[in-house]
Amino acid sequence: MRTVKGGRSLQGIIKVPGDKSISHRALIIGSIAEGETTISGFLHSEDPLSTADCLRKLGANIPEIIKDETFTVKGVGIDGLKEPREILNCGNSGTTMRLLMGLLAGQEGSNFILNGDNSLNERPMGRVSKPLSLMGGRIFGRNNGDKAPISIDGNKLRGCVIGTPVASAQVKSAILLAGLYASGTTSVIEPASSRDHTERMLKAFGADINIRGELGRNIVIKSGKNLTGQNILIPGDISSAAFWMIAASIVPNSNIIIKNVGLNPTRTGILEVMDDMGCNYEIEDKSIIAGEPIGSIKVKTTNNLRPFKIQGDILPKLIDEIPILTVAACFCDGVSEIKDAKELRVKETDRLKVMARQLKKFGANILEKEDGLIITGKSKFISSEVDSETDHRVSMSLAIASLLAKGSSMILRADASNVSYPNFWDDLEKLIN
Ligand code: S3P
Repeated sequence: MRTVKGGRSLQGIIKVPGDKSISHRALIIGSIAEGETTISGFLHSEDPLSTADCLRKLGANIPEIIKDETFTVKGVGIDGLKEPREILNCGNSGTTMRLLMGLLAGQEGSNFILNGDNSLNERPMGRVSKPLSLMGGRIFGRNNGDKAPISIDGNKLRGCVIGTPVASAQVKSAILLAGLYASGTTSVIEPASSRDHTERMLKAFGADINIRGELGRNIVIKSGKNLTGQNILIPGDISSAAFWMIAASIVPNSNIIIKNVGLNPTRTGILEVMDDMGCNYEIEDKSIIAGEPIGSIKVKTTNNLRPFKIQGDILPKLIDEIPILTVAACFCDGVSEIKDAKELRVKETDRLKVMARQLKKFGANILEKEDGLIITGKSKFISSEVDSETDHRVSMSLAIASLLAKGSSMILRADASNVSYPNFWDDLEKLIN
């Protein structure tokens, strides 16, 4: 449980932890490459550490990872993974489970069991097991292969053309990783562009991968005999920076700089919404590191924020930012709408339901729809006792909401934030005046 006192502004310079999506991928791709992969800026939090733990059980050479220290993964090569003696525990991490399903489906002759925590074991896995089955994967689980625990009988895979029903980077990445082990060519076509970190990293490691089609929605890969270890510098996670970007916009008299934030265009939907809101921000020190654009974001409070509407193809570009954007909407001048956001219902929690339920305790005016939320802004928040319901992004969003409430608020199960941002509460203290 954490207590947050409202009515204080945010000032200062901050560096958010490494990108979660890139951290998972660096470990996975580095493990199956030839030679050494050196990783700096890794996110030392529960989710990527679950991936490290699973990969070690599969025989990968990943040393003990010490926070803020560069480390080297000695790749075992594309065919170097081993059948584990233990269950692979993915914890709370959907990325770990789904990407490993893709990685392991083509490990001929080996068997694997993947398990998760209560939240993960209720999340849909059929979106990965079904396309992998089309490639010849043999994947089993509760509810006809839809729910973990998942068991995989590694099998010979054949390349296919697969249209994914949801724009999910986890699904796309699982298919691409499976494609490394499949005969022929594997092609994924997405309904909208999802984050492309896997494509960028596979390309950097020398994979035979081509991005085609409108807005790069068709990705074609051939088997991966040629992956070579790389140096990877992981930028800060824009999904973690988002809490401070919105906080500084809505908490009166705030002025902050967030350094070294990843600005991959498949992740920057939040900036488009901040433009719609009329937020006062600037991007400085733009550069490219390890194939990913980065920059520093300077944000100041804006008094009259405009309401916004989120719908359609932008959703995958800000999928993890919906909880904090819901908080933002409560302080805009009018009615904001979030549509086409059904995916939020199958995240770590049902984020539409949980955000509506928790923010209403502060006095927010939110109407829950089947695929989104309608939020009437300019609420006056009153302090309250709220609950993360075990969801990291809900926990941090509620912390920012508490800054806008008069008096002290209590956030139950606040340490859910350890999944993606272990220093969140220290950083909050640092920025508070
Ligand atoms: C992720 C993809 C997104 C995102 C998640 C991380 C990834 O999930 O919400 O936090 O690293 O590929 P979906 O692929 O389910 O949209």
